[in-house]
Amino acid sequence: MAPLCAALLARLLLGQLSLVPAWLSGAGAQADPSFQLRQPQKEMSVIAGETLTLTCTVSAGRPVGPVKWLKGWGSGNETIYDQKEPSSSRGTRAVNGSNTDFTILIRDVRPEDAGTYYCVKFRKTDTGDELYRCGEGTVVSVQARPSNPTVSGPSRRVEPGKTASFTCKTGGFFPSDIHVKWFKDRAPIQAQPILITPGPSNFTYNMSSTVNLTLQKDDIRSELTCEVRHATLTAPLNRSYHLSHILRVPPSVLVAQFPDPVGLNKTVNFTCDVQGFYPGSVTVTWLENGTEMNTGSPPRPTETPEGLFELRSTVAVQAVQEKNGSVFTCWVVHEGQDPIGSRATLRVAASYQKESNSPNPNGSSLFIYVAVGVVCTVLALLVVAILYLIRAKQSKGKSSPSARLHEPEKSSGTTTQESDPNNLTYADLNFTKEKKNIQRIIEVSQQSEYACIQSSQAPASNDNLTYADLDMVHLSKAPRRPAPCPEETTSEYASVQIQQQ
Ligand SMILES: *[C@@H]1O[C@H](CO)[C@@H](O)[C@H](O)[C@H]1NC(C)=O
Ligand SMILES: *[C@@H]1O[C@H](CO)[C@@H](O)[C@H](O)[C@H]1NC(C)=O
Ligand SMILES: *[C@@H]1O[C@H](CO)[C@@H](O)[C@H](O)[C@H]1NC(C)=O
Ligand SMILES: *[C@@H]1O[C@H](CO)[C@@H](O)[C@H](O)[C@H]1NC(C)=O
Repeated sequence: MAPLCAALLARLLLGQLSLVPAWLSGAGAQADPSFQLRQPQKEMSVIAGETLTLTCTVSAGRPVGPVKWLKGWGSGNETIYDQKEPSSSRGTRAVNGSNTDFTILIRDVRPEDAGTYYCVKFRKTDTGDELYRCGEGTVVSVQARPSNPTVSGPSRRVEPGKTASFTCKTGGFFPSDIHVKWFKDRAPIQAQPILITPGPSNFTYNMSSTVNLTLQKDDIRSELTCEVRHATLTAPLNRSYHLSHILRVPPSVLVAQFPDPVGLNKTVNFTCDVQGFYPGSVTVTWLENGTEMNTGSPPRPTETPEGLFELRSTVAVQAVQEKNGSVFTCWVVHEGQDPIGSRATLRVAASYQKESNSPNPNGSSLFIYVAVGVVCTVLALLVVAILYLIRAKQSKGKSSPSARLHEPEKSSGTTTQESDPNNLTYADLNFTKEKKNIQRIIEVSQQSEYACIQSSQAPASNDNLTYADLDMVHLSKAPRRPAPCPEETTSEYASVQIQQQ
């Protein structure tokens, strides 16, 4: 900055031509050519809040006049230190009272303190202090740390599945180079490009970074972290945001009746299960056929391991006949949203037999299985018993063979008798199987069985004996055949010939 200082000196000289001879001569007389002003620092970088040390030394002795520290040059200059008024100065002397060391300290540097500082020696004249020498200037840059970041979320709670925007902000930093990273539970997430705007003062910047995140139900325990890195920071600045602050998980609502159906005049419980909601406050209202019921306050919600809440509200109802078919509705209002409802219809069992007392549906079905098993077993036993009885009866009947002949009905009139040319007699047969008697009967087939039919009159001869196939004894009228009458084994009928008197 020596050229600037020299140029100013030149301008001062030109602007005060009348003074030139006096100044030049005076300079020659009063100035000490060996006078030296040294401002060795060309550039200084300081972090806001710290103390800035600006060094300047001058040689002892003449000329007489104060030393000042100016910030800026020209019309915009600002006096930082004035040897004549040290108490009102922003800068303070490093070595108090020294005539050669004009090093100053600027404490608690602010971003606005950035600029070029000049150490200037003035010479006292009759008309006032005149600029005599100036240093080359020290360019001071003030680095500013970013403020602690803030993270803001949506102004209203957001349901899972929806996207929410989160913004991380910090400000007052210099230089403008800044880096932001986002994490969700330590996993990096992609953010929008950061936005850098002028900060509170012209020497600093503000930054804003936004991420869009689709929320999930299990984000209740998750947190977002904004991490800011800047040249002034030895460690990054972090700010976390718990997603539970803005997440709203609506409950699921389910009403059930226990027992269902309920016996007449018994007490039935309607339960309303309100599950998986966040935050953990709900209002539960019961309606009976649309009319609000006076139920006590519901139990407090309990927290699940996932961080959600649940509660069960119960109302007891007497299952009188008039209430059969009544509708019980559970209304749940969560976080000022529209109510979520679930309903159930009271079912009163028509009879006590239908009632299931077991509140445990598994237990009742087990009971049904056992009952069905028992009934089936009893039925099976019954069938076996009946079969056994039939068998026993059959074997008993066979044990006493008998044959009873039905004489043609005399009372039915002569026409009946005359219409029956064979004039046969019907017989009930109950035969004992016996071995065939070869001497008496002509054998037709090996499968045939034989039986004797004893009529009231003893047969006169072998010719009058009749045989029958016992597998299918079916007596019917048949055309008269010459006796004895050998039958085919396949016959399903037999002729019984009774000698008429
Ligand atoms: C500083 O500013 C004042 C007026 O504001 C001006 O008179 C003076 O010449 C300036 N000094 C320098 C060294 O520029
Ligand atoms: C910059 O940030 C500061 C706080 O850090 C804030 O007061 C100011 O309003 C912000 N300015 C802009 C332009 O964002
Ligand atoms: C049920 O209660 C009503 C009156 O409360 C009564 O008239 C009726 O007999 C009761 N029925 C049974 C099956 O107990
Ligand atoms: C209740 O209503 C159901 C269906 O309308 C019916 O089957 C049942 O018998 C009724 N119960 C009584 C106790 O009337």
